[in-house]
Amino acid sequence: MYAERVLSGMRPTGRLHLGHYHGVLRNWVKLQNEYPCLFFVADWHALTTTYDEPGTIEENAWEMVIDWLAAGVDPSLATLFIQSRVPEHAELHLLLSMMTPLGWLERVPTYKDQQEKLEHKDLSTYGFLGYPLLQSADILIYRANRVPVGEDQVPHIEFSREIARRFNHLYGREADFEEKAREAVKKLGAKRAKLYEQLRTRFQQEGDHQALERAHALLEEAQNLSMGDRERLFGFLEGSSKMILVEPDALLTEAAKMPGLDGQKMSKSYNNTISLRESADSVTKKIRTMQTDPARVRRTDPGDPDKCPVWQFHLVYSDESTKQWVQQGCRSAGIGCIECKHPVIDAVLKEQEPMHERAQTYIDDPTLVRNIIADGCERARKLSSETMRDVREAIGLNYA
Ligand code: TRP
Ligand code: SF4
Repeated sequence: MYAERVLSGMRPTGRLHLGHYHGVLRNWVKLQNEYPCLFFVADWHALTTTYDEPGTIEENAWEMVIDWLAAGVDPSLATLFIQSRVPEHAELHLLLSMMTPLGWLERVPTYKDQQEKLEHKDLSTYGFLGYPLLQSADILIYRANRVPVGEDQVPHIEFSREIARRFNHLYGREADFEEKAREAVKKLGAKRAKLYEQLRTRFQQEGDHQALERAHALLEEAQNLSMGDRERLFGFLEGSSKMILVEPDALLTEAAKMPGLDGQKMSKSYNNTISLRESADSVTKKIRTMQTDPARVRRTDPGDPDKCPVWQFHLVYSDESTKQWVQQGCRSAGIGCIECKHPVIDAVLKEQEPMHERAQTYIDDPTLVRNIIADGCERARKLSSETMRDVREAIGLNYA
């Protein structure tokens, strides 16, 4: 019913690194050629955990946008914007908050996980609890049906689906829909009507899809229902007759195979990153001094690539013949570790060359970045205002 649309956001937390590139940005660059895409700086989201250090947001936001552009995100294909410049997100968040059960938010797995992980910080805040709902507003306001995220964010997309469904259920129907639907339920006969009600409750309250399927089967079998009643009973199950907000699907991004310099996941908090726009000298130095198989003390000791973070880099960057050369040479002590690192250094530098080039244009002329974002914000506001008009009307807030 609505056209395909991709939306994703990223918190402005600092310089992006190769982990972001291989894990997220390369996927965005691919998607921008396949769908209309919206990518945004989730600066309000950053505040949910860094509300006590606001000074960092602005610089991080601009640097992050330059990183996106450096990676090949193309503003002529995708819409790039900043969340806080589109206040409609906040309005939808507020309206959705009126109908969001607290239990749904408390059950989102990232809520407790993050609180435990960041236990030095007071995250028993209203904003932190509500952050998945803010994310839902981000998505629903563009009627985006595809949301590229990592595995950890999938529950948030599920949550957004439930919110959309609940909204449509509450606000998306003919004036006397419920009354008519209840009449139609009675026509199923006492036994079937009771089962129908039970299944409907299970689906709507617990999101139990098996219950929904069973209820569909029940309706298929039911005889002597008018077309209108049948329609109503199907609609009543899912809670809506009119789809105002679109239920999004997660586009699962494969877990990045990009390791950090020490073989753990590449992450700023492990201090094992190569940033997207790191200087060639620094890249070379970092890889040269990378740990290798600890058992390989001397050049004459054979090594085991499986115990070496450099091998992980070869898996990302090297072709088959280079990989064979490493396997063979390492296990037989035929090559030295510095030698083994050369192709990796070359590959990273080669990957970064066009990134440096693209970034330079924007560093030389920051107004270019400002203009890209201004255009993107304008487009985003236009789209989000359209949804908000429908939302206000559905709730009955469109009076003059
Ligand atoms: N919550 C996401 C993160 O922390 C960022 C985000 C905010 C997002 N709003 C979004 C991602 C909407 C996808 C869609 O990584
Ligand atoms: Fe690692 Fe390569 Fe040295 Fe083997 S030769 S230990 S794979 S750096």
